[in-house]
Amino acid sequence: MICVSIGRGRHRHVIAEHRHLVSQGAKLVELRLDYINGKINLKRLMTERPCPIVLTIRRDIDGGKWKGTEQERHMLLRAAIVDGVDYVDLEEDTAKAIGRYGKTKRIVSYHDFRQTPDDLAAIHARLAALDPDIIKITTMANSPHDNLRMMQLVQSVKVPTVGMCMGDLGTPSRILCGRFGAPFTYASFHHERLLAPGQLSFEEMNSVYHYDKIDAQTTVLGVIADPIGHSLSPLVHNTALRQAGINAVYVPFRVPAEHLDQFLTDAKQWGIRGLSVTIPHKEAVLKRLTKFDPAVKAIGAANTLVFEGDEIIGYNTDFRAALESVLRGVHSIHRLDVDEHLASVQSVAAEHQPTEDGLQGKTALLLGAGGAARAMVYGLKKNGAKVVVSSRTLKRAQQLAQTMGCDCIDWNNRHAISPDIVVNCTPVGMHPNVDETPYARGHLRSQVVVFDMVYNPENTLLIKEAKAQGCSVVTGIEMFVRQALLQFKLFTGQNASWELMRDTLKRAIGPAKA
Ligand SMILES: NC(=O)c1ccc[n+]([C@@H]2O[C@H](COP(=O)([O-])OP(=O)(O)OC[C@H]3O[C@@H](n4cnc5c(N)ncnc54)[C@H](OP(=O)(O)O)[C@@H]3O)[C@@H](O)[C@H]2O)c1
Repeated sequence: MICVSIGRGRHRHVIAEHRHLVSQGAKLVELRLDYINGKINLKRLMTERPCPIVLTIRRDIDGGKWKGTEQERHMLLRAAIVDGVDYVDLEEDTAKAIGRYGKTKRIVSYHDFRQTPDDLAAIHARLAALDPDIIKITTMANSPHDNLRMMQLVQSVKVPTVGMCMGDLGTPSRILCGRFGAPFTYASFHHERLLAPGQLSFEEMNSVYHYDKIDAQTTVLGVIADPIGHSLSPLVHNTALRQAGINAVYVPFRVPAEHLDQFLTDAKQWGIRGLSVTIPHKEAVLKRLTKFDPAVKAIGAANTLVFEGDEIIGYNTDFRAALESVLRGVHSIHRLDVDEHLASVQSVAAEHQPTEDGLQGKTALLLGAGGAARAMVYGLKKNGAKVVVSSRTLKRAQQLAQTMGCDCIDWNNRHAISPDIVVNCTPVGMHPNVDETPYARGHLRSQVVVFDMVYNPENTLLIKEAKAQGCSVVTGIEMFVRQALLQFKLFTGQNASWELMRDTLKRAIGPAKA
């Protein structure tokens, strides 16, 4: 169950939001009375409640907005209990002062906005002595490991406990606490009105994470990154998982570089089966792999991890997705035959073989010399293309060319060659800098295949100009969806729907940015 917190200044807004939430399926709502401006009309809020409520009045020391006296606060809480409120939230000292009465259930709560204390079990034991029906512990996560400690507490205690960590490091605990036995989690009414750092909206909890379907058997998948930003991978993967009827949830884990090792050690206790890996971890994960796809070794980066017993197996679906995208442009391959390509992906010992319809005799110009370019060079070279890399920082292009065995040219000379394929492996043109392009329109000949890895927007200036010049174009959406399809198969053994993933991604990016 999801408890949705409402914090509004006016009674009528509280009541309107409450009704709306119930119409959207909410079964429990927390009314944060400390947000109400002026005199609180408890009777009105209680009589007009369309579903059970948790009544909370937070002081500033507990992260709230209550401006009245402590005596007034206690009077309101007592009045609500006498009126038969469904749940009342009582902080540790308040729970000592206000006793049980009637049918009202007591949530005894604890907050720490600075840290997740070492002695969580001792704190829990203290709260358990205060006659709770439910214990709520909310602390700040300063490392991903704090979340796991909190989940282990939730799982190990007798009194039903909602344990969650705050901050963007803590988001996984809000999504996964039900898997570890929490009676409910908390969410906000709207993503623009978060009442606690790292909180998700009711809508996200439902439509992205399908929170109410998460149980002790749910397999955990996810993405590790820092920053995690607004990664679209959770939306795309969770939509596909739901459609396939698989009991798994895909979670965004913000993992700072210094916590990567501990996180991978913790993965088994989280119940993690698979992870997408992105900046800055693609290279750093290599030292923890016990098996890997040959491409991972050649590229020096893995973007997909699969956990099997004590094994951590690394794959690089970026390279396959990027290569397939180029081949689609060159040979008008319309769809990725997932099974065919996964036959080699799944056999970690198998080398990727050049395809029959390879790229012999073609010259590819790669713009950018980062991780994505590296994966692209590997795929293009394996398929017989001559590759030239050009990067803003010449040294980076030279290093890539040297290690991967290709050519490089100065960024200022990138228009001096006549490539058959141009691949943008830089973020140039990405939202919000949609008026930028890494390659001048005048140099785009109609026979050229233009592949832009940027997917937000899909129709970058480069893509628009290439279309106008009559080039064959492939967008970053294609690559994104292809790598997600390959990851999905590696994680679940099943094929996801290409159309579903693509449409979900396109809808999320939205026409405004496209
Ligand atoms: N569609 C997909 O599925 C997919 C998958 C992976 C990546 N991508 C996209 O591909 C792009 C590159 O990713 P990455 O992981 O390779 O990033 P990365 O490792 O940070 O490398 C970025 C490269 O772009 C260059 N660059 C950055 N800003 C530039 C600018 N304003 N002008 C010229 N060059 C610039 C960098 O040059 P310096 O060394 O000079 O900074 C570097 O060579 C990103 O936009 C990413 O979103 C898309």
